[in-house]
Amino acid sequence: MRIRTLTAADAPALLRLYQAFSDEVNRYFRPFETVTLEVLRDHLERGDAGEHLTLGVAEPDGSLWGHGFVLGIRGERPVFGIGLHQDLIGKGWGRRLMEAVINAADASGAPLVTLTVLKENHRAVSLYESMGFELRGDCTFRMENDSHYMERRRTAP
Ligand SMILES: CC(C)(COP(=O)(O)OP(=O)(O)OC[C@H]1O[C@@H](n2cnc3c(N)ncnc32)[C@H](O)[C@@H]1OP(=O)(O)O)[C@@H](O)C(=O)NCCC(=O)NCCS
Repeated sequence: MRIRTLTAADAPALLRLYQAFSDEVNRYFRPFETVTLEVLRDHLERGDAGEHLTLGVAEPDGSLWGHGFVLGIRGERPVFGIGLHQDLIGKGWGRRLMEAVINAADASGAPLVTLTVLKENHRAVSLYESMGFELRGDCTFRMENDSHYMERRRTAP
């Protein structure tokens, strides 16, 4: 299992990952309004074009166990997201994948990365804080002000 950049060729494997997410993972992680092969291929093609950063935790056979990304890496407010298959949670892969995505964001020169996270998702909030994200306000996911808005400014020159 290793972390690598995803390409449009990973669309079917990414669809299988999203279709396999448990209810609990889906409760916290819903980056796409609807999940179809077309939606995920479009996301990955935008990655190929340099619009997004999009990485995965991948097996040698091509199957995927985690997805981490920054949407709109060249925009004013790039947005980070991460989700692992439930079988991988709590084993250090979230931190490793996040480090790889944030290192790629830093290398791209993006001065700012933002995210939103449900306040009750303590595991994710503590991971984000340890990666240099700071609480910047409340926002709404399913219920009013149920989420934190967080930002990280690049520290390297
Ligand atoms: C959030 C997520 C990416 C974290 O990845 P993970 O592999 O489970 O986490 P890791 O094992 O890498 O642990 C990372 C950190 O989380 C924190 N953490 C782990 N378990 C925790 C727990 N039960 N409670 C609070 N914090 C916890 C620790 O700070 C840990 O840091 P450490 O490396 O110093 O121990 C993963 O759990 C996940 O995909 N969850 C479901 C989807 C989701 O919540 N996505 C985020 C939506 S905003």
